[in-house]
Amino acid sequence: MKIIIKKDYQELSKSAAILVKERIKKKPDLVLGLATGSTPLGLYQELIRLYEKGEIDFSQITTFNLDEYLGLEASSPNSYHFYMFHNFFNYINIKKENIFIPKGITEKPKEDCLRYEEKIKEKGGIDLQILGIGSNGHIGFNEPGSSFRSLIRVVSLNKKTIRDNARFFKNKKDVPKKAISMGIRTILSAKEIVLLASGEKKSEIIEKVINKKVTKKVPASCLKKHKNVTLIIDQKAASKII
Ligand code: F6R
Repeated sequence: MKIIIKKDYQELSKSAAILVKERIKKKPDLVLGLATGSTPLGLYQELIRLYEKGEIDFSQITTFNLDEYLGLEASSPNSYHFYMFHNFFNYINIKKENIFIPKGITEKPKEDCLRYEEKIKEKGGIDLQILGIGSNGHIGFNEPGSSFRSLIRVVSLNKKTIRDNARFFKNKKDVPKKAISMGIRTILSAKEIVLLASGEKKSEIIEKVINKKVTKKVPASCLKKHKNVTLIIDQKAASKII
């Protein structure tokens, strides 16, 4: 596991954007796995800036998002569909048909999940997966205890995640209790993985991921089993390891 420590959030975001830019330059039809949440916002802003400067062309890439809340319409401001279009896709030249996000409203979640997993394979697998990390160590919505063999599926969010995510909702009771999330096996099948973490609140979990053994109790610890993982973290998130 390679660890890159950046001065602050802005530097972390720039460094991640440069990495994405380089990968797209090498492979214009890159298959990119994407995350939502606060952490990748700076990366998306930086990628938009590079696109506006003419330094990146997204016209051939395909994206797969990690997760979506179950029960939220794509038009809901709290859905990850809404987040992705409003923070990234609306500002770049990606083709709509190349964007994949799990469906939040579905009558057949199991079938949708199977289809999503197949679609990833059909596109040749994920070349580069961007991840954030929950303060409980989750990646995607693979909460502590998730099987390392899990594929995309319906998951129940744990109390800590619901509490952490309540900041985006008017009322805590509005936070969905379920989501559709790529599994740990899905994530580990990506050819390259970059995990971003910023701020003091992530320092404890980052220390655990780096120093503790691989355990289902800390889902992100599974990344140690992968051959091509980079953690890009800022000094605050790294404060317990330096
Ligand atoms: C989001 C996702 C989650 C977040 C994690 C960290 O698509 O999969 O695992 O990456 O909850 O969220 P932030 O960045 O808001 O701290």
